[in-house]
Amino acid sequence: MQSSEIRENFLKYFEGKGHKILPGSSLVPKDPTVLLTLAGMLQFKPIFLGQEKPSYKRATTVQKCLRTNDIEQVGKTARHHTFFEMLGNFSFGDYFKTEAIEFAWEFLTVNLKLPKERLLIAVFEKDDEAYDIWKKKMDIPPDRIFRLGEDNNFWAAGPTGPCGPCSEIYYDLGPGKGCGQPDCQPGCDCDRFLEIWNLVFIQYNRDGSGQLIPLKQRGIDTGMGLERITAVIQKVDSNFDTDLFKQLIDDIKPLINPHPLIPVSEQVSLRIIADHARAATHLISDGVIPDNSGRGYILRRLIRRAIRHAKLLGGVIHPPFLSTLARSVIDQMKKVYPVLSEKRNLIIEILDREENNFWETLDQGMKIFQEVIAQHMQDKIIPGSIVFKLHDTFGFPIELSREIASEAGFKLDEAGFQKAMKAQRDRGRQAGIAGEKQKLLSLALEHINSTKFVGYEKTTDEGKVLVAVPGQNLIILDKTPFYGESGGQAGDTGLLSLGETEVRVVDTLITPKGVIVHEVDKLAGLKEGKKVKAIVDAAKRQATAKHHTATHLLHKALREVLGGHIKQAGSYVGPDKLRFDFSHFAAISRDDLIKVETLVNQKIHEKIKIETLQKDYQDALKLGATALFNEKYGDQVRVVRIDNFSLELCGGTHVQSTGELLFFKIINESALGAGVRRIEALAGQAAKVQVIYQAKSLRDEIEKLINHYRLVELEKENLGGEKFTETNIFQIELTELDRLSSAVDGQDAINVNKIFDHLTGRLEWLRERLTKSEKELRDLKLKSASQQAGDFLGEVLEIKGVKVLTKEFKTYSMDMLRSVSDTLQRQLKSCVLVFASNLHDRLIFLITVSPDLMAKGYSAQTLAATFSSVTGGKGGGKANSASGGGNDPSKIPEALDKVRKQLAI
Ligand code: ALA
Repeated sequence: MQSSEIRENFLKYFEGKGHKILPGSSLVPKDPTVLLTLAGMLQFKPIFLGQEKPSYKRATTVQKCLRTNDIEQVGKTARHHTFFEMLGNFSFGDYFKTEAIEFAWEFLTVNLKLPKERLLIAVFEKDDEAYDIWKKKMDIPPDRIFRLGEDNNFWAAGPTGPCGPCSEIYYDLGPGKGCGQPDCQPGCDCDRFLEIWNLVFIQYNRDGSGQLIPLKQRGIDTGMGLERITAVIQKVDSNFDTDLFKQLIDDIKPLINPHPLIPVSEQVSLRIIADHARAATHLISDGVIPDNSGRGYILRRLIRRAIRHAKLLGGVIHPPFLSTLARSVIDQMKKVYPVLSEKRNLIIEILDREENNFWETLDQGMKIFQEVIAQHMQDKIIPGSIVFKLHDTFGFPIELSREIASEAGFKLDEAGFQKAMKAQRDRGRQAGIAGEKQKLLSLALEHINSTKFVGYEKTTDEGKVLVAVPGQNLIILDKTPFYGESGGQAGDTGLLSLGETEVRVVDTLITPKGVIVHEVDKLAGLKEGKKVKAIVDAAKRQATAKHHTATHLLHKALREVLGGHIKQAGSYVGPDKLRFDFSHFAAISRDDLIKVETLVNQKIHEKIKIETLQKDYQDALKLGATALFNEKYGDQVRVVRIDNFSLELCGGTHVQSTGELLFFKIINESALGAGVRRIEALAGQAAKVQVIYQAKSLRDEIEKLINHYRLVELEKENLGGEKFTETNIFQIELTELDRLSSAVDGQDAINVNKIFDHLTGRLEWLRERLTKSEKELRDLKLKSASQQAGDFLGEVLEIKGVKVLTKEFKTYSMDMLRSVSDTLQRQLKSCVLVFASNLHDRLIFLITVSPDLMAKGYSAQTLAATFSSVTGGKGGGKANSASGGGNDPSKIPEALDKVRKQLAI
C-alpha cells in the first residue's frame, strides 16, 4: 500500500464513522502560544476549550507538522523527523474513550490488517478506565498493556491549553531491533517498540498557573504518524525507506559528490538532508522566510544544517542543490498540498538565495582553510592575507575564522588582516580582477580571430572547438550561444558536452574583435576539431535578461525624472542584480527614487514588447538612440527599442516583453565619486523576494510593538486604568503585510513604496503611542503604590521608642518605593523606613529618616552601609535619604534583619 492510499483510507474510514473531513492547517499556527503547528489538534484548540462551536462534532484531518525538539535524533534513528504528517480523528463533546479505542483498533487490525499480536498498548498509570476498556472490551491480555507515567502518557500541546491522559498503540518490530535489556518495553528509547498512534483523552485545560481545570465538554484528539505507519505497512526498516522518501533520497544521491572516506555517516547525512528539504519546502510554502529569529530562524537553521551535511558528504556537484530537492518535494506532494505549486517559484528563489549565501560563507572558505592549515603546520598561524581573502571574497566574518582556526589549534595573524583591510580601502579592487582576465584573453587571441554568436535566438547549439588552451582552461568554438561579458552584461555560464564528457563553463568573455572565449573548469579531453553541444544555463540567462531590460528602463526613467543630463557611466547586469552608474551632481532624494521606481514598474505593468533592430549607426543616432560615450560601434549597430520609451544601442540579451520583469526594486543608491552616482536594483523574482523580506521585517517589528503595547495596556487595566478594548489593533496593516509577503503583483508593484511609507508612518505612530502608554503605566503604578502605603501601617515596629518599618516589595521600582516612603513619612511624621525590592532579579533599596530622628543621630547613610554590608552591592546618600542596589535579591531579608538589629543597639 502506498502512503497516498494510507492517507485516503484513514480519512475514508473516519468519514464512514461520521467524521467531517477537514483540510489540515498551515504550519504557521493562528495560536500565538506556539511557534509552529506541532499536532493535528492545534487548529481545534478553541473548540476543545469551548470558545468556538463548530457545526460538526467529529472531524478527521491529515496535518503537516513541524517539531524541532528531536532535531538531534533526525537521521540517526529510523523514526524521527522535523517535518511529518499526522493522521488524526477528533471528537468535540461527542464520543470519548471507548469509541476512540474501538475505532483505532478496528482501523489498524481490520482495515490495515496489522497482526494483533504485534500491537501493544500503553495507558496513563492512573487511568483505570482506559486500562479496563483495553482489557475487558478489547480483550487485550494484561501483559500487553503497560501503565506509564505522566511524561509518556499525558499529552499537552504546550504549557497551557487543552490536555489529558492518553493511550498509545505500539508496534513491536521484534527483539532483533531492540536494545535487548530485560526492562525493554513500550516507552523504551530503543527501536523495538514503535509508537504509531496516540489517543489523547482531552478533559482538562491547563491555566497560566499550571492548574488543571476540568473542561465542560470532553473530547478526543488522536495522532498517527504517517511516516511510521507507512514504514510498518511497507515492511521497511526505516521511515526513510518508505515511498514518502525514496524518490527524494534518489534525487539527492546524484547531486552529491561522494567522499571516498566517509562511508558510515553517509546514510545519516542523506536522511538529514531529505528531512530538512521537506521541512524547508513546506515552511516557505506556508509563508515563513529565513530570518535571524523566530520561525524564520528555524527555517534558516534547517537550510544551513542540510547544506552542512551535504558538505560532510563531500559537497554538491552543482550548488544550489536544495531547490532541486524542493522541486522533487513539490512534485511529490503537490496533490495533497496544492500551496506547494502556488509557491513554487518563491520556494526555489528563497532556497537558492539562502543556499548561495551559505555556500559562499562555508564551503569555499573551508577549502581554503584546509589548504592553509596543511601549509602552516609549523607556525600554526593563518596569514593575514588569507584571513582577509576569506573575509572579502567568501564573506567569512573574522570571528568565524578565529573559531575554525582555534579548533585546529591555529591563531590568526590579526595585524596582517587589519593591514590588508586598509590596503583594500586604499585601492580600487576591480582593476586587479579585470587585469587577470585580460591576460587570459590575450593568450587566447594569439590563436583565433572570430566567433559567431547565436545566443539571441537560442541557448543551446552545436559548435566546433577551434582552440582549447590547456593550463588556462579556455575553449573557443566556431559558433556559440554563450554571451561573452560585455556592455556590462555578465558572461553566460553553462555546460559544454561531448557524449559522456561534460565540462562546466564558469564564465564567458569576448575580445574587442568579437572572439568569444569560454572559461571552463577542465578541458577533459576537449580538443580542436571536436563537435560539442553548448548549453547555456538558461535560468541564469533569463534572470540576467530581466536585469538588462530593467537597466534600459531605469536609464530612461532617470532621464525623465532627473533630467536629460543623466549619462550612463558604467553598469553591471547579472543574474543576481543590476548596477547602474551615471553622471549626476547630487544625492537623489527619496521622492525622486520612488518616482523612478514607480515609472519603471508602470512600464513593466504595461507589458511592452521589446524589439531589436539592425541599423546603420548614423541612422540609429538620428532616431535618437542612446549611445555610450567611449564605446566604439561598427557601421551596423543593434538597437533595442522599448516602444517609444527607450531606444539604446545595445548588443545584450533582453526579455521579449517588459511584463516578464514582474517587478522592479531599487535596493541602494550611493555616490561612486565626484558627480557619479550608483543605483543597485533587482528585477523579477529576486525583486519580489526583496520586498517579501522587507514586508516580513516590518511585520515583525509591528507585531513586536503591538505585543508590548498590549502588555502595557493590560497592566494599566489591572491597576485600575481604562479597559483595554483595541483587540484588533493594526489588523488591517498586518493583513496587508501578510498579503505582500506572499505575493507582490500588478498594482502592488507600482504602489509598493506607498504601502511601505504608509506602514512606516503607522509604525512611528504606534511607537509614540507606546511611549505615552508606558508613561501612563508608570504614573498609575506610582499612584497605586502610594494608595497602598496605608496598608503597611500595621507592620510598623517600635524599636527603642522609634517607629520603624522594614519591608521587602516585589517588583517595585525606585520611584514606587519613594512614593510609598513619602506617603508614610507624611502620615507617621517621625519614623525610619527601610524598603527593598526585587526588580528584574536585581535588588534596590531606599532608606529614609524623618528630620527629628536625624537630629537625634539616626542616619540613612549609615543604615545604607549596614544594608550593603550584607548584600555586597553599592549604596549612598545623605542622612535623610539613601538608596542603592545589588545583584542578589535573595539577601534582602538578611539585610533588613541586620538593619533592625543595628537600630536596636
Ligand atoms: N496530539 C496528539 C499528539 O501529537 C495526538 O501526539
